[in-house]
Amino acid sequence: MKTYGFDGDAPQLSGQRKVTSVYVYEAPLRLWHWITVLSIIVLSVTGYFIGKPLPSVPGEATFNYVMGYIRFAHFTAGYILAVGLLGRLYWAFVGNHHAREIILVPVWDKQWWKEFFFEIRWYLFLERYPKKYIGHNPVGQIAMASFLWITLFMCVTGFALYGEGTGAGSWAHSAFGWVIGAFGSSLDVHNWHRLAMWGIVLFVMVHVYAAIREDIMSKQSMISTMVSGFRMFKD
Ligand code: HEM
Ligand code: HEM
Repeated sequence: MKTYGFDGDAPQLSGQRKVTSVYVYEAPLRLWHWITVLSIIVLSVTGYFIGKPLPSVPGEATFNYVMGYIRFAHFTAGYILAVGLLGRLYWAFVGNHHAREIILVPVWDKQWWKEFFFEIRWYLFLERYPKKYIGHNPVGQIAMASFLWITLFMCVTGFALYGEGTGAGSWAHSAFGWVIGAFGSSLDVHNWHRLAMWGIVLFVMVHVYAAIREDIMSKQSMISTMVSGFRMFKD
């Protein structure tokens, strides 16, 4: 029977050699991860203030351009996030098979669901011994795949709003102008764009908790794996 994770010892290669580390995430994927982390932080902080602006101050607009800088930072980080996302999707085609894990989630596979529920029990402290995964575990896989879809949603709605500012004839308006009509109005797009941000904030909180928790409890490396690319199996 096909299994995704494995129990017990580190994996055996060619029946003889016990390996303690495996190269998993290639450099472009890792670079994308950390660039996305920085973009998301900038986008969430600046986006929050775009929706709930700072009180206006008296004086010449030129000398009080705070909201202008906040919006500029948002749009710059938005472009970086979007280009990163395109690069990540490209890497899913040309990278190793771990680069496809968050694109192709095997939801049709019974064994995968069994391991999914095992991981839920493990996260709830109802299992004693962790399963080991070279790539993502099924719960992480589905969470990260959802994040990818939300990112796409943020880019589509973000560039639709951006196109309103740059106006008819701009590339953003031509490519994404239809999104405003599809949602109903500009305010609807603003609201969905903002609501989805809270989805991302929730993902990040759970994700960072899980990464640190697994690093401590699951007997396999996590955070350093997203830095060096290697997964270490600790016994
Ligand atoms: C804005 C914050 C973050 C976002 C949006 C984010 C998003 C993601 C995504 C999408 C993946 C899947 C990578 C792929 O397969 O292409 C991932 C993996 C990972 N992230 Fe993050 N991440 C964030 C912050 C962090 C932080 C702060 C840490 C470290 C404490 C971290 C540690 C990891 C690890 C260890 C993995 C690999 C997990 C595994 O091998 O199963 N992430 N992250
Ligand atoms: C994860 C990514 C993103 C987050 C968390 C985020 C967050 C936000 C938030 C909270 C708002 C305020 C909504 C409101 O209440 O009116 C906003 C506005 C906006 N965002 Fe984003 N955003 C993201 C990605 C993008 C991208 C990729 C673009 C594309 C350039 C973009 C462009 C805009 C624009 C044009 C506005 C409206 C600005 C204004 O009305 O002054 N956003 N964003």
